[in-house]
Amino acid sequence: MDHNSIFSPIKEDLALFDRKLKENLNCDSKLISEVAGHLVNRKGKRLRPAMVFLSYGACVNSKIKFLGRSAVMNVALAIELIHTATLLHDDVIDQSKVRRGQVSVNHKWNNMISVLMGDFLLAKALRLMVETNSTILLFIISGATENLSIGEMNEVQESCNFDLDEETYLEIISEKTASLFTASCESGATVAQADKKVQKKLKEYGQNLGMAFQIIDDLLDWVGEAKKTGKGRGNDLREGKVTLPLIYTLRESDSRTRNKILKLLKNDFNQKDFDKILSLIKDNGGVEYARRKAQIFGKRALGCLSELRDSEYKKALQDLARFVIEREK
Ligand code: FPP
Ligand code: MG
Repeated sequence: MDHNSIFSPIKEDLALFDRKLKENLNCDSKLISEVAGHLVNRKGKRLRPAMVFLSYGACVNSKIKFLGRSAVMNVALAIELIHTATLLHDDVIDQSKVRRGQVSVNHKWNNMISVLMGDFLLAKALRLMVETNSTILLFIISGATENLSIGEMNEVQESCNFDLDEETYLEIISEKTASLFTASCESGATVAQADKKVQKKLKEYGQNLGMAFQIIDDLLDWVGEAKKTGKGRGNDLREGKVTLPLIYTLRESDSRTRNKILKLLKNDFNQKDFDKILSLIKDNGGVEYARRKAQIFGKRALGCLSELRDSEYKKALQDLARFVIEREK
């Protein structure tokens, strides 16, 4: 199962979304148009807008029809623009060369262009949100944007801290990633005017899904295939990012193994050391542990949907929770 087949109930909505996204990136500035062209050239999975549409659909339970600038479309666009802006900034912070299988904006142009393009997208998102005329939607989405900035800042602060504990790691990924997943589902349910209990459940679904997503994202940085993920392996470690497979192994392994890993971590990053650390992580159950942890969050996400009435949208949200855990890219 891939995300495109899961999203079949909202296929038309996502097609309209893509057209509107391009429209929103139209700009007189030649440079902005060039960078925008590069960004839409290789599109992402559209997970967040899909979550907005599916949460909305699961609540109103009628064929979703969008009339031009409806609030749900604006929210989906704003969230995707914010997400793309964070990636543009994140690639500068991480000094990444590749994003979604193609050269990153910071690498193709430079850091300044990447940051400024992120700012442009953020401003566009703001405008789209203001157009909804909804303080509550603005509140949900601005709150998530604030949280992900805090998460990224905390991650930078914890860089190269090999004593990082699981609780702090989970807090960081909750802020940097799960916050926007949460906002996607909550805002979809809010636009549909679902009752408060349903809104809360969908919000929790998004939170748990976001946690599972980032744990798997971090795991794929250790064991994923670059051809599938569109980014190389070992980037997190190279950047000093300490993630769950390593946290678990450092915590649970015997002192000999732990010291061996710590010694390797003190070296400047090289592929050979990475492979040695990975092999110790594998031998000590770190990969399995992270996968299990993601599965727990995935199951929690599924549990949040139990009281929703049956619909193709609910089914898609369920399938999405399974996809996020099983994904290889
Ligand atoms: C990707 O994580 C990064 C994030 C989920 C959050 C990034 C947030 C910021 C840069 C701060 C706020 C920015 C704005 C525009 C408000 P990752 O590095 O683990 O994922 P990756 O492997 O895909 O790069
Ligand atoms: Mg990154």
